[in-house]
Amino acid sequence: TSRVRVHHLQQAKDSGEKITMLTAYDALVAPIFESAGVDTLLVGDSLGNVVLGFDSTIPVSLDDMVRATGAVSRSVSRPLIIADLPFGTYESGVEAAFDSSVALMKAGAHAIKLEGGVSRASIIAGLVANGIPVMGHIGYTPQAEHALGGPRLQGRGNAAQRLIEDAIAVEKAGAFGIVLEMVPGKLAAEVTRKLSIPTIGIGAGPDCDGQVLVWSDMAGMTDWSPRFARRFGEVGTALREAASDYVNAVVSDSFPSAEHTRENHE
Ligand code: KIV
Ligand code: NA
Repeated sequence: TSRVRVHHLQQAKDSGEKITMLTAYDALVAPIFESAGVDTLLVGDSLGNVVLGFDSTIPVSLDDMVRATGAVSRSVSRPLIIADLPFGTYESGVEAAFDSSVALMKAGAHAIKLEGGVSRASIIAGLVANGIPVMGHIGYTPQAEHALGGPRLQGRGNAAQRLIEDAIAVEKAGAFGIVLEMVPGKLAAEVTRKLSIPTIGIGAGPDCDGQVLVWSDMAGMTDWSPRFARRFGEVGTALREAASDYVNAVVSDSFPSAEHTRENHE
């Protein structure tokens, strides 16, 4: 099967087919999602929380993202690979954003994602003019955690109109799609109707054109998962049980046994 490209996401919206996205950060897990049929892999800066042990995305560097993007890119051939521009590497202007995007594209990204609406429109337009496909991200934007007062639903009450304006600004700037994070379902549905580009929801109800989850939340890797995520597996428990069986087998001298010992195969 051939590469998923940006225009396929538009076709999916236009024909009413849902778009699937999961995060991926390495060459171990990305091929598993490819073989599951996931359309798009997001090398998210959630890397900071999920893999690097930080408690936010703010410490994530461009080098961190380049390394992860390369690993994902080397390990799959079908999914569209979108990489996040990390905090501090694009907000100051088109030039900074372009240089950072080039680093991610050279590492194997097919598109980049950045956070913000009206305030980022000129940066989005500048990247698009230089041949870089851009996905927007509005609603709760984790890089602005300290400005937004932590993870919380965005676009309530009077803020709904501003969120709609952000969405329209992102589309007008030339983005090929937009993530809506932690937005009331009704508002996300309205934005999805108003925009011609596809919306990808996370904590934004069922009426977006596609859905994204952080893979460790999807797979049930950790005890905690956000309320909007469904645990589609208990992979953390399965992995712990495998590791615990291994430990017990070594300690009890039942591994390695004769069948795993090399001279017996010679
Ligand atoms: O970094 C990330 O995982 C994201 C998604 C939650 C949209 O930006
Ligand atoms: Na992100």
